[in-house]
Parts: sequence; structure tokens; C-alpha cells
Amino acid sequence: MRLSISGLLLSIALLPFVFAVKSQDFKTCSDSGFCRRGRALAARADAAGSSWKSPYSIDPASISTDTSVFFASVRSSLYPEIKFSFEARIHEDGVARIRMDEVGGLRKRYDEAAAWALIEEPRRAKINWVVGKMDTRVQYGHKKEMELKIYHNPLKIVYLRGGREEIVINGDGLLHMEHFRTKQEILEQPDDANNASDESPEAFIENTEQKPFEANPRAWFEGESEDGWWSEQFRTWTDSKPKGPESLSLDIVFPRHNVVYGIPEHATRLALPTTTGPDAVYSEPYRLYNLDVFEYLADSPMALYGAIPLLHAHSTDSTIGIFDLIASETWVDISHPTAKSTKTHWISESGILDVFLLPGPTPNDVFEQYAKLTGPSALPPEWSLGYHQCRWNYISSEDVKTVAQRFDEDDIPFDVIWLDIEYAEDHKYFIWKKSEFPDPIQMISDIASVGRKMVAIIDPHLKRVSSYPVYAEASEKGILIKPASGSGEFEGWCWSGSSSWVDFFHPDSWPWWISLFQPKGNDKTWHWTDSTEDIFIWNDMNEPSVFNGPEITLIKDAIHCGGWEHRDVHNINGMLFHNITSKALISRSAPSKRPFVLSRSFYAGSQRFGAIWTGDNMGTWEHMAVGIPMVLSNGIAGMTFSGADVGGFFGNPDSEMLVRWYQAGAFAPFFRAHAHIDTKRREPFLLDEPYKSIVRSILRLRYTLLPVWYTAFREASVRGIPILRPHYVMFPKDVNGFTIDDQYFLGGSGLLVKPVTQPGINEVQIYLADNQPYYNYYTFDLYRGAESGRHVTVPAPLDTVPLLYRGGSIVPTRERPRRATRLMKHDPITLHVALDKSNSAKGELYLDDGETYANLQGDFIWREFTASTSKGTRIISKDLASIPGNKAVDAELTTYIPSNTFAQSVKDVRIERIVVLGLSKKPRQIKLDNGRILDWSFEDGVSAVGKKEGTTSVLTIKDPAVKITQDWVVNIEE
Ligand code: GLC
Repeated sequence: MRLSISGLLLSIALLPFVFAVKSQDFKTCSDSGFCRRGRALAARADAAGSSWKSPYSIDPASISTDTSVFFASVRSSLYPEIKFSFEARIHEDGVARIRMDEVGGLRKRYDEAAAWALIEEPRRAKINWVVGKMDTRVQYGHKKEMELKIYHNPLKIVYLRGGREEIVINGDGLLHMEHFRTKQEILEQPDDANNASDESPEAFIENTEQKPFEANPRAWFEGESEDGWWSEQFRTWTDSKPKGPESLSLDIVFPRHNVVYGIPEHATRLALPTTTGPDAVYSEPYRLYNLDVFEYLADSPMALYGAIPLLHAHSTDSTIGIFDLIASETWVDISHPTAKSTKTHWISESGILDVFLLPGPTPNDVFEQYAKLTGPSALPPEWSLGYHQCRWNYISSEDVKTVAQRFDEDDIPFDVIWLDIEYAEDHKYFIWKKSEFPDPIQMISDIASVGRKMVAIIDPHLKRVSSYPVYAEASEKGILIKPASGSGEFEGWCWSGSSSWVDFFHPDSWPWWISLFQPKGNDKTWHWTDSTEDIFIWNDMNEPSVFNGPEITLIKDAIHCGGWEHRDVHNINGMLFHNITSKALISRSAPSKRPFVLSRSFYAGSQRFGAIWTGDNMGTWEHMAVGIPMVLSNGIAGMTFSGADVGGFFGNPDSEMLVRWYQAGAFAPFFRAHAHIDTKRREPFLLDEPYKSIVRSILRLRYTLLPVWYTAFREASVRGIPILRPHYVMFPKDVNGFTIDDQYFLGGSGLLVKPVTQPGINEVQIYLADNQPYYNYYTFDLYRGAESGRHVTVPAPLDTVPLLYRGGSIVPTRERPRRATRLMKHDPITLHVALDKSNSAKGELYLDDGETYANLQGDFIWREFTASTSKGTRIISKDLASIPGNKAVDAELTTYIPSNTFAQSVKDVRIERIVVLGLSKKPRQIKLDNGRILDWSFEDGVSAVGKKEGTTSVLTIKDPAVKITQDWVVNIEE
């Protein structure tokens, strides 16, 4: 049977439903030569027990130090002729960086991951290394509380705080940097082995039972066969492995930390379950290898679309971080050697060793240290915090128009409508399918008329037809990824059929890609002339996804600019695409506007370029539930602007599931509904009652809380603190909260949410970690936490996403229902003051124009609200940005003035209501500092102070008519 191209593409589109891709299409550790070798090394070490000793040592004669760096040569007794360089640096903020590379070898290891992931070369500390016979030490930090010890033989690196070991690298002797070799050399191995130096492991295995290995120390350490060294087969694909073995194994132990988080992206719990040891939860290591996994499992360490090699190790005493800056495929085993400790084993395919030790000691310190390295998340345009309506596909301009109209008719807010791949003629991105989208500019402008935006997809695969100018020009410029031979163009299959991929590692690709987005002033008709500044970009399939490649990605021996193999750069490949597209959007307008680019693939640093989502999830309760820890995990690893497809990409969720999914989505930083082309339409206006009204109210709640979201995004963009904050971040000392990942706090606002992710629920148990009152957002019921933590039961009928104010918070909201974010700019603010048990509270509000970079020149307002008690309660608004030395505004302070242009533009925006929860007494009178008496009402109820629970007292101060840009004081007199 002959199948037309469109028929073939349609069948590919239908594939997930016809032939669901199963786990066996993806490698397990035992399918991967270097992972097998890494695990086998660990198994040999385990079996050898205390007699196992690392063959790596520092050559004492080679040691040199300067004020911040320790240099030395490292040698492996197995291959004395091979030289490694070793370097330890201490940064000003206490971060230690360890680097090791093979020098003078047959080839070079990839050493450019840092150039893509880091924002700048960090400033180094001035310190004094003490070089001894056995080790080199350095103490640093304000009180010299931190210490790095580098043991010379065997090489071991220990980080200590307050004299206690917190991180031990190569303590278990699993460090192994496979040097480059030729096949020939290997055949001679037994002779070389006999010439091994005195320090060879023979010496130390003599006393062990490992007699079979005695004659061959290399085999004793590396294994007896050349397992997967020279070429590898996976199903029908052969990886030619021209460079042979070059993998890197490293053990990192946390003797005092028994819970670890991070290394996204995996569909698993936030506190990472173990993968080795007697009670291992998973049998496979966590895999970091960006992959397009159809119908991924909801509970698995399998690799997904993104990879951030950042791990937090946590205990009641401290939080520390490991950032393993490597761009190649990496597997991580996790175990708990004792109840108090955690062991991690990192196995990477290629690249140098470049590991950062982030000393914490609090979660927020680790966030800030990590943000100093890879940058905080970009502050996105404000509209992108609204609700995004997507599906594969809105098929025509008429369709787009109707969908928007239906939202408006039903008074349901949204900010963005998305176009998936079918907008593009034959999936040739940038080229509109004019039969369905005859006048794209008109369509975009119609949507933009109320400040809404559009997003169109642009994937990295280019259809290989010479009539497609984007492909033709890339081909002519020689900026496409090359096959293993190193010449010609790599060819594979994706949505557009036979395709090639732009090599964004090629410097010439950048200006060219940017030029494609210039909407006007270019006579080449194929440049994106049919676009306006109101259309933004979705970069999908950038792992990259190659339908006929091994594991649905690019074969590892494909060649990038500079001759690097794809294996060396795989995990950063997608980030480059995200990076350059965001630059293209920034440069298309003058003055520049903030870009919005959604990417599926990500790496450390991607947070600087836009949002990501968790890919093709399924319309099941399990997927809805695991979406929450996935987004939390992305957030603690810097990638805070993330969310899951609301409704699930595959399948047709029933109304209850859809409602619950909207509730979970409304409390994720990136809030987008999306669905596969084969699913039934499920836009909120299609729902029957009461579901439609419930979803409308969820969307309104999202918009009501936009000031909170924006303030949290702003904090993330300055300090790197995640927008969603799990319990261990909020209460690092509360051991009960370490594994909680189904409830979390929204920024620094004090709002605690627990989305329902199961059917048939009417109430939920919420864990309150501290001895404070918490207030139900909807009913004003007061629940009391306890010093040792306490669970309370909170109503959660279908129309309610359980949401509490933590006592001590002041939450700003905008309560006028509007169709889109921009229409709220001049809306008044309501302040919700949730008093704590000492009758005080605090909150913040940050606002700026929401779309340009004028904020960096000081165009913004940043207020702090406080409530405190002493003979009555005073609620105060003050300008946080004017406080000298306030570190969160360093960059802006130079030019900030309270009457800046933005502040002028919102000078009439007022506080329209102040609601105070938990007051103990009905006030006598309420007045402003200027003497003006205010109108108020009071409903008596349980107070913040004391032990009682029940409905709290509610004081509503009506229209105090104070301005958001001004300092003011409201006096609540008893
Ligand atoms: C991928 C994306 C999905 C998108 C589809 C078509 O599967 O993950 O979101 O709808 O491609 O572009």
C-alpha cells in the first residue's frame, strides 16, 4: 500500500495511540556500555569492601597554589603514563569547584558545558592553602567555618563545615576517568599491566581474597572485558564510538544528609527514592539524557525531556548542593549506606570532570549560590503568568477567532492562544498554511486587541526540500548537524518528514536564526514577515527528537561544530535553541521587550531563556499527581517557570479530572491546557455546568493572585529562590516535611496549597509545620499548627482547591474579573492580612510594566506591608526599593527613584480593601496617620492568639483609598 506523505505524517501523529511507545524502546543501564561499566565498577568495589582503594593520586611534586586555586597532576596507578590535571577553586560565596581532565592524551574531552551553562566566571575567594605531605587543606568563610581537604593518595576530596564532614568525593574509590586509547594499545594491555608502578592496586589487593584479579590490576579495577568500548548496538542502531571509551565515574557521599532532591527531569517523588542497596525503590539509576518519551511512566527514574545535574542533600542541620556540570548522558545511583547518610554515584559518558560543591547551609543559600553560577530565572512578561489555551491544533484563523470568542462569551479569562505544528505549511516552520491562515497579521492583531498574545511552534527540524528557504539557507551556510562521517548533512525523520537539524553550536547559526524573526524590513519573502511583536514562540522537539533515531533522538556519533560528537553535547543541545530563540525575540523590537519561549528540553541555565513544560503527560490521576513533584523539582533546580499540560496531553479526562487538573495547573508557574490532536476538544467553555463555572472560578482565582505570582517571579529572577516552595525549603529543620511533595507554598506569600489529585475527594489532610494559625482562603476557618507539626482536615469539594494563608502573611490580590492580564493594570489591590499568633504579619508587592526591561533601570514599585501590634494594630506600607543596601534590588538601586515612570503610570491605583484575619477584639476606630477616619465592618470569631479553632474574626476596612505607590499607615485602635 502506498501512503502519501500527509498520510504518513498522520500515522506518525496517531502513533502514540496505535503503538504506545514502551520502556523497552529506551535504554536501561545494562543497555548502555558506560553505565554498565560504571555500575560494575561499583559492584567490584562493593565486593572488595575495605580492601578497595582508588588508584588515583595526586603527585605531590606537582602541587602549586595561588590565592584561590589548587593545581596538581593526578595519576592513576593503573596507567602511570596517562596524565590528568586537577584543580580545586574556592569562590567568594564559598562554592568549591573541582576540575579534572586528561592532559596530553590522544584526544580532548569536551570542556565547553560551562561556557553554555554559567553566566560568568565566578569571583574567587582569597584563601591560604596549607599543603602537607598527606593532604592539602584550606579553611574559608567568614568564620573559617568551611574547609576543603584534598587527600593526596588516594585522591579524596572532603568538604567540612564546623569540622564535620558533609561531602566526600571519591571516598568510596569509584572515581574513574577512562583515558583515550586506541584499540591497538588495549590489545597490549597485559604487558602494560605487568609494568604497572609500585603503587598499583596489586599492593593493596594482596591482602584480600580477590586473587583472581591479582595478576591484572586494570581488570581488577576496570573489569575484564572491553565492554562496549569500541562500538555499541541498541536495537537496530549502531553507535560507531570513534573515540572509544571515555566515561567518567564519581562517588559523592553525604555522611550527614539522608535525603536528596533534584536532578530533574524524572517522574518521581521530590525526595528521591533509592536506586541501589538492599531496599532500593528503583532498580535503575536516575538517567539524565534528554529524550522524547511518548506516554512516559508516572513513577520512574527514566530519562525525560530535560536534565539538570543539580542535587540538594538535606538534613535538619544543613542543605548542600552538588552541581555536576557535564553535558553528556549521565546516570545517578542513590543509596543510603546508613540511616543518616546518602551515597550518590554519577556515571557520565564523556566530558571533563567539573563539579561544584554548594555549601548552603540553608536551602535558600543553595538557591542563591546556584543562581550565581547559572543565573536566576528571567523575569517573564506578565501576561505569560496568565492562562494559556493550547491544543494540537487550532486549525485555522477562524478556529482561533471562535475559540477566543467563546471564552469571552462565557466570561472566562485567558491570555494566550497557541498554534501547534499544523499552522505551518507541510510543517515548514515560519511558513503559514495560507489556506487556513490567510491573514496571520490580522489574526494576531485581533487577539492582541485586548492585550492577549499568540504563541506559535517552531521546532528545530527543517524539512529537507530546497523550496523551503529556511532549510535551503541553513544548508548553504553549512550550519546543519553532520552525520558521523563529518561531512554532508545529518538526515532523519520528524514531523516534517525527511529533515535536518540546525547546529546551534555553529556560531554562524546565531545571527542567521535571529534574522528569521525580524518581522519587517527584509525583502526576502520567507523571513517571518507574517508576524508581529504579539506572537511568541514554542520550541518543541529540541532534545532533539528524531523519530527514526536510537531512543527517538539523534545518534551519538553525529557531528557538531568544532568536531564534537553529539554524545558530548546532547543535554545542552536543546538549551542552545531556547537561548537563541529568546535572543531573537528580544532583538526583534526596539526598545527590547521580554521574550516568551517555551522549550521542552532543558539544562542548567535554561531558566534564563523562558519556560518549560513536563512534556507529553497522560490524562490520568497518576500523571496529574506526579506533575506536582516534577514542577517542584524543576523549581529547586533553578527551572522555576514550569508546568504540566493541564488535562493531560493524551486521553480524554472526565469533567471531574479536568476540574482538578485546572486547580493543580492554576498553582503551577506555567499554566497551560494542552491536548493531543486525537483528543476531544476540551476548552473550558465546552464543559457542562457546574464544571464550567468551577473552571471559570479557578481561572479567576489565578488572575486574582497574579500580584502574588508576579512578586514571586520577581524574587526568583533576582535571588533564584523558586516560585513554588516545598516544605523542606520553608521549614528546613522539620524532618516531618522532608518527604512532603503534594503541598507547597506560593513564593514568599505565605499561601499554602494542596491541589487534589485523586477522584471522589471532599476533604484533604494538610500538614502544618509550625505553631502558627493558618486560615482557610475561602471560609476563613482558622486551623492551628503545632511546634512538632500537625495534620488538619480541610474541606476540598470539587469547586475548591485547598488553600490556606499562613498566619503572619499579607497577600495582595486583584479581585475584579477581567478577560486578560493587561486589563488589570489599573485595577485596585485588596490586602489580606493574616495575623500570626503575636498579631503581626508581613507581605510584599512588586509591579512593573510587565513587558520591557525598564524595570532594570528602576521603573517599578516594590512595597512591603507590615502589621504589628502595640496598643492596637498598625498596618504600614513602605517602599522596599528605597531601603539602602537591600540586596534584592542591587542592580536597580543605582537608578531607582520612587517617582519613576512606572510608578507614575500606576499612581492612581489604590488599595480598595484591607481584610484582617484573626484580630482579637472589635476595633474602636480605624484611621489613617493623616487622621482620616476609615469605614469598616467586623465579624467576630476566633482570634490568632490563643488555642481556639473555628471561623476567625474578619475585619474589613472598606476603601481606605490609599495608593499602592505611597507610604501610609492604617491604625486599628482598640
Ligand atoms: C510533541 C509535543 C506536544 C505537541 C506535539 C505536536 O509531542 O510534546 O506538546 O503537541 O509534539 O507538535
